[in-house]
Amino acid sequence: MTSFPITPLNAFIKKSEAKSPIKIHLVEESRMEEWKKSQDKAVQNWLNTNQYKGKKGQFLAIPNKEGKTEDILCAIGHNDNLFALSSLAGTLNGHFELHHAALEAENLYQICLGWALGLYDFKAYKTAPAKDKKESLLVVPDQLDFDHVNNMATSVYLVRDMVNTPPNDMQPQNIEDIARDMAKTFKADLRVVTDGELVDQDYHAIYAVGKASENRPRLIDLTWGNAKDPKITLVGKGVCFDTGGLNLKGTSNMGLMKKDMGGSAQVMGVARMIMAMKLPVRLRVLIGAVENSVANNAYRPSDVIQTKKGLTVEITNTDAEGRLVLADCLAEACQEKPDLIVDFATLTGAARVALGPDLPPVFSNDEIFQHELVEISHRFQDPLWGMPLWDGYDSYMDSKVADMVNSASGSFAGAITAGLFLRRFVDEGQKWAHIDCYAWTPAAKPGKPVGGEAHGMRALYHYLEQTYKK
Ligand code: BES
Ligand code: MN
Ligand code: ZN
Repeated sequence: MTSFPITPLNAFIKKSEAKSPIKIHLVEESRMEEWKKSQDKAVQNWLNTNQYKGKKGQFLAIPNKEGKTEDILCAIGHNDNLFALSSLAGTLNGHFELHHAALEAENLYQICLGWALGLYDFKAYKTAPAKDKKESLLVVPDQLDFDHVNNMATSVYLVRDMVNTPPNDMQPQNIEDIARDMAKTFKADLRVVTDGELVDQDYHAIYAVGKASENRPRLIDLTWGNAKDPKITLVGKGVCFDTGGLNLKGTSNMGLMKKDMGGSAQVMGVARMIMAMKLPVRLRVLIGAVENSVANNAYRPSDVIQTKKGLTVEITNTDAEGRLVLADCLAEACQEKPDLIVDFATLTGAARVALGPDLPPVFSNDEIFQHELVEISHRFQDPLWGMPLWDGYDSYMDSKVADMVNSASGSFAGAITAGLFLRRFVDEGQKWAHIDCYAWTPAAKPGKPVGGEAHGMRALYHYLEQTYKK
C-alpha cells in the first residue's frame, strides 16, 4: 500500500545541516523605512532603483558584489503572515534562513508552515519526472519546535493528498488502510466494522448509504492514548464518491465529488497531529466510509431506515447521504460520553452558498466552545464562522411516516437543517461541534494550490493543544 501522505515534504532543514543559507529578511511593513535606513548605501540604492515599496508580501532579491543573491527582503504584516513566504518557496534552489527583529514565535511558526504549504504539489499520478524542480529548504528557527512545524505541514499534506487522490484509489478500504497504517505508527487500536457486520451491530444508516457499491461500506474506529485523559472524539464523513445515489447528481455537481471524503481527511489530519505531538488526550476517531453509488440494491427515496440510535429516518433524497453516515457515528460516539465530539463533513452545498469555499461554518450546542474555536481559527488563519442551530427550523426535518426525513422539502437554511438533523443524534448535554467544510481550493492563491485543502483541521488542533496540553 502507498503510505500517506504521498507527496513528499521537502521544506525544512536543521540549522546544523544548512550550507551557506540565503538570508530572508522579514521586515514589518510599518518598519520598512527604519530597516532601509539601517542598511548601507548600496542596498538603499538597490531598493530605490527597483522602486521597492515594501508592501506586505513584496519580495526583493538583493545581489552581493558578485551579483549573487545572498539576501532576500520580504515585507510582512504585523501578523496574519501564514502565506508571507508561500510564493517565494520553490522559486530558488538552496537553503534559506530567516532574519528578523525579534518576531514572536507564533508569527514565525505560521511563516514556516506557509513555506511548506507553498511547496505542495500533487504529482503522484504524473509519469514524467517534474522539470527543473527546485529544492528550497528553510531553516526552522531555534525558538520553534521543529517537529511541531514539520508535523503540521505533514498533516496538511496528508489531508490534501487524501482528497486529491482519485476515487478509484480512495475508497472505504483505502481509508481503512490509511487508518491501519497510522494506528501501527502511533500504536493506536483499530476496530473496523465492515459490510454485513454493520447490520449486525445496528449501523443501519451507514450500511444503507453504502450498500450499492462494490466498495463495501465500513465504520472505522481508531482509539489512542490514556483512558484517564480527557476523551476527544472526532467524526468524519468519508463518502468516497457521491453520485447522489438514485437522486443522481447532474454532470457539473458530480464533477468534484471525489472530495466528499474530505471530512474524514480533516479528521485524520487532526488525529495525526494529536498522536505525533503526544497530546495528553484519549483520542477516538470514527469515520463512516462509504461510496454513495447507483445499483439495483441502492437505497431509495421513500425507504425508511433504522439507525444506531434507534430513530427512524424517511429517505426523501438519497443525495443527503452524509448526514445519515454521520448519524450512526455520532450515536456511537455519544455512548461513552466523551468530553468533546467534533465532526467534519463536506455536508451541504448550502454552506457554500452562505459562506463560500474558504470559510466553513461551525455549528455547536456549546456557545463558549464555538466562540473559542472561531477565535483560535482566525489567529491561525484557518478561518471558521459560527452559524446557529436555529431551533425554529428543527420541525423542517419532521416526517409523516418516520421520526424524521433526511432532507427538508424546501431549500431554506440547508446548512442549518443538516446541522439540526445531526443534533438529533447527539445526546442532551453532550458537547459537540459540526464543521461543514468544502475541503477544496477552487482557485489557486499563494500557498493554496487548486485541489484538496485542510479546512478547520489546524484550528481544531490548536484549540485542543491550547486546552489540553499540560
Ligand atoms: N456532498 C454533498 C454536499 C456538497 C455539494 C458539498 C457540493 C460541497 C459541494 C452532499 O452529500 C449533498 O449532496 N448535499 C445535498 C443535500 C440536499 C439533498 C438536502 C446538497 O447540498 O444539495
Ligand atoms: Mn450527496
Ligand atoms: Zn455528499
